[in-house]
Amino acid sequence: MARTVKDIVDMKKAGKKISVLTSYDYALASLCDKAGVDVLLVGDSAGMVMLGYENTISVTMEQMEIFVSAVAHAKQNSLVVGDLPFMSYQASISDAIANSGRLIKAGADAVKLEGGNVMADTVSAIVETGIPVMGHIGFQPQTTALSQGYKVQGRTADAAKRLIEDAKALEEAGVFSIALEMVSHEVAKIISESISVPTIGIGSGLHCDGQVLVVHDVLGLYEKLKPKFVRQYLSLSDDIVNAVINYKNDVVSGKFPEEENWFSMEQGEYEKLKKEIS
Ligand code: KIV
Repeated sequence: MARTVKDIVDMKKAGKKISVLTSYDYALASLCDKAGVDVLLVGDSAGMVMLGYENTISVTMEQMEIFVSAVAHAKQNSLVVGDLPFMSYQASISDAIANSGRLIKAGADAVKLEGGNVMADTVSAIVETGIPVMGHIGFQPQTTALSQGYKVQGRTADAAKRLIEDAKALEEAGVFSIALEMVSHEVAKIISESISVPTIGIGSGLHCDGQVLVVHDVLGLYEKLKPKFVRQYLSLSDDIVNAVINYKNDVVSGKFPEEENWFSMEQGEYEKLKKEIS
């Protein structure tokens, strides 16, 4: 049985850590699901790692629907969360509800949006329609990057208090979990201990209730950025380049294909054909 939002919340109550990885396509999502990851987050980081954009801002609803649909077809056990892209929920609550509905129709079990206190009414409205929402505070790639660049959040007491208020406002608005991105580990601990829904950290230390990373970073598939908070478990880029070099060399030298890779005509048909066309 696939995990539900309630299962994820219950994991915090049971003191079990929650594993989250981003996913964007059928093949990788199937493998992450098979490996037992609790949540597959179809992040708008797709814009960078799948589409080659500089940041997440240009990602569209149509693109997110395609990524969500691919991951939803792969999922057997994990919960699928679809990220609402930039400007799909900020302009009005009705946009937010309509676009959340589009991601659910594409196959997501829940949606994620960035923003704390300022997004509380939007979150409540989406949750009231029956769509579960994951919040996202701390570094918010859709907007913090525009105003401050990549910067750790919650390093002063004042900034920390604002983050704690944001987390509480989101909890009150009805989120089932909150992603904490690049929040100082002390503040992430305080937030995790002061709300009942799970915190999912990315670059926010060990005391979050779960962790999320971009799957391309974990597998060593995206070479443009190497944030300090990533742990790379494989160097797939190197393996892929080596495999492609070997393939190319085999084609050039005539070592590929071999008999096991090709198909033959039926017995006697080749001789018959040769006579007929000679
Ligand atoms: O888009 C994304 O990948 C995210 C992170 C929380 C990993 O939002």
